Amino acid sequence: MLDILEVSKNFYHRESGQEFQVLCDLNFRINEGEFVCLLGPSGCGKSTLLNLAAGFIKPSAGRLIFQGREINAPGPDRAVIFQDPTLFPWLTAIQNVEFGLQNAGVSKNERHLKALQSLQRVGLENCADVRPHALSGGMRQRVSLARVLVLEPALLLMDEPFSALDENTRERLQDELLRIWLADRKTILFVTHNVDEAAYLADRVLVMGPAPMSLVTEVRVPLQRPRRRSAFEIQNITDRLRMELGRQPCCIPVQKRSHGNENNQT
Ligand SMILES: Nc1ncnc2c1ncn2[C@@H]1O[C@H](COP(=O)(O)OP(=O)(O)OP(=O)(O)O)[C@@H](O)[C@H]1O
Ligand SMILES: [Mg+2]
Repeated sequence: MLDILEVSKNFYHRESGQEFQVLCDLNFRINEGEFVCLLGPSGCGKSTLLNLAAGFIKPSAGRLIFQGREINAPGPDRAVIFQDPTLFPWLTAIQNVEFGLQNAGVSKNERHLKALQSLQRVGLENCADVRPHALSGGMRQRVSLARVLVLEPALLLMDEPFSALDENTRERLQDELLRIWLADRKTILFVTHNVDEAAYLADRVLVMGPAPMSLVTEVRVPLQRPRRRSAFEIQNITDRLRMELGRQPCCIPVQKRSHGNENNQT
């Protein structure tokens, strides 16, 4: 489904004239229908990897292969959900959901119906005509989810989507996401720095080390769903994840290079 093959990413900082390695020789595969969490400390390069998978930026070395094709641009088959919902403030919830369908040339009636169904899936059909400013943070994030689900992407790339929410809302949205995932079996790559979230959601957790990010280990979570957050087995997994997060990865050293007129993304 998604193959990350010897991927490295460097950023050139013009101000200091130095090149920083953010990702270091990453190799892993995500299988179709899997729910994979990418767990790592702040600043280690998780969003950078997601941006590569989305096709927003290119790797400095290595390749990302999605469904047999090399990723070199964004595409409707890969949807991204960011930490902060990025809705158009002048559009209502349903118009926000319809927007991508309009771009895809779907007829007015059909896109209205599909958008309404998508809002239903996230429990927001009663807020279809409300603008984002009148929605709570959790509701805005649910509209974001409805907006990408309506496009039926094969891969959902989620970048700490619930981390700005209070604990209750976060847990509710985690459950909603799991309910949708169990119904659809979409492939999900979910970035988090929260061990509890990773253990509760994932089939498999990829534990990353500090920048330059490389894979420390992977931890499988072979527990059936629905899971109980307080279950002994979940606690065992979170303990293991905490311990693995503390381990240092083995990595090649950062190299300094001289540059001419390059921009800051190499
Ligand atoms: N476009 C860019 N140009 C230069 N440096 C960048 C760029 N994007 C990210 N970086 C650097 O790469 C490193 C990793 O950033 P990234 O956002 O991927 O981390 P993260 O793991 O997502 O962190 P967080 O958990 O805080 O969101 C940081 O040091 C950041 O400053
Ligand atoms: Mg990030």
